[in-house]
Amino acid sequence: MTSDLMPILGYDAIEFYVGNARQAAHYYRTAYGFDVVAYAGPEHGTRDRCSYVLEQNGIRFVMTAGLTADSPIVQHHARHGDGVKDVAFTVPDAEEAFRIAVERGAEPHREPYVVEDEHGKIVMAAIKAYGETIHTFVDRSNYSGVYAPGYKPTKHQRPADPMGLQFVDHVVCNVDLGEMDQWAAYYANIMGFTQLHHFNDEQIATEYTALMSKVLWDGNGRIKLPINEPADGKKKSQIEEYLDFYGSAGVQHMALATDDIVATVRRMREAGVRFLTTPKTYYDDLRSRLDWSTIDADLEELAELGILADQDDEGYLLQIFTKAVQDRPTVFYEIIERHGSRGFGVGNFQALFEAIERDQALRGNL
Ligand code: FE2
Repeated sequence: MTSDLMPILGYDAIEFYVGNARQAAHYYRTAYGFDVVAYAGPEHGTRDRCSYVLEQNGIRFVMTAGLTADSPIVQHHARHGDGVKDVAFTVPDAEEAFRIAVERGAEPHREPYVVEDEHGKIVMAAIKAYGETIHTFVDRSNYSGVYAPGYKPTKHQRPADPMGLQFVDHVVCNVDLGEMDQWAAYYANIMGFTQLHHFNDEQIATEYTALMSKVLWDGNGRIKLPINEPADGKKKSQIEEYLDFYGSAGVQHMALATDDIVATVRRMREAGVRFLTTPKTYYDDLRSRLDWSTIDADLEELAELGILADQDDEGYLLQIFTKAVQDRPTVFYEIIERHGSRGFGVGNFQALFEAIERDQALRGNL
C-alpha cells in the first residue's frame, strides 16, 4: 500500500499567521481552553516575529505574527487576514517524507533543515499545498525541549480552564471552482491517501448555494482532510464568500473532538464563543429522523445548546459549528463528539448551510 511509504503519525501543529499573536493566544486560552506553553520573540532572540504555542490535550496550535511591514508574515496577513499557514504533520523521517513527496510531484516549500539547541534537534521540511498553505514534515523524536529551539516555556499565573477538547478530528480546505479533483489527487498521489466520502451538489444545496466535497484520509483516521469547492447556485455560495475574503484557497474549518460535547459547548458559550444558531424546526425534524434508542444524548439539551446530531449505519455523531473567529468571514471551528460514525454529518449539511447563509445575508454577501 502506498500510504506505508509516507507514514504520517499525526498533526504536529497547526500554525496560524495572525495580525496580533499576543491577543490571539489570549482568545484561544480564555475562550477555547488552550494553555499557552511556549513563546518565541525578540526577547529570546527571534527578531522578526512573535509566536505563541498553545496546547490542549492532543491539539497544538501556534499563533505567529510578524513585526514590521516588510515581514512576509505581515504581508500574508494583509492578503488573507488571520488564517492557517501550516498544517504540519509528525513523521518518523522528515527528509524521507519530503523526498518521496517531491518525487511524486509536490512543490517544495523548504528543503530539509535541522534546528537544534541543548535539548536536541528537530528535522523539518515543507511542501506547498492549496493557496499559500504549506505542510511541514516534522521529526521531533530527538528533541526534548518545549516545542522548538528559540522557544521558552511560558510562565503562567494558572492553567487555562480546559474545555475538554481532545484532538483534531479533521481539517477542511476550500479550493477554487473546478479544483477539488486536482487537490484530491494531490493527497492521493503524494500522501497515499484514499477517498473516504464524496458529497455532490445535489446532496449539499439550498435554494441559493451548493458545494461539492471530497474527504481524503490516511486510512487509519489520524488525518482526515475534506476538500470543498463551490458549486453553481442562484447567489454567492459560502465557499465563494470565503475565497473572496481569504483571497485564495485555504483552511475553512478545523473540527476539534470532545468526549462530552454538552459540557464543552456549555463552557465555551460561557467563555464567549459564538456558535451558529439552529432553527427550532431542525429539532422537530431530528426527533423523527434519527433512531434515539441508540443515541446517548438528551434532545432538549442539544436543542438548548444548538448542537446538531446525525446517524449512519456505523453509529452517530454530535456536532456544532462556531461563527468565524476573526473579522473576515473565513476560518471557523467545529466541535464534534463521535460514537462510531466516521461521517461528517451530511444530514446536517443542509441545516448548517442554511444557518451560514443567514449570517452571510446579514453581512450583505448573499
Ligand atoms: Fe467538518
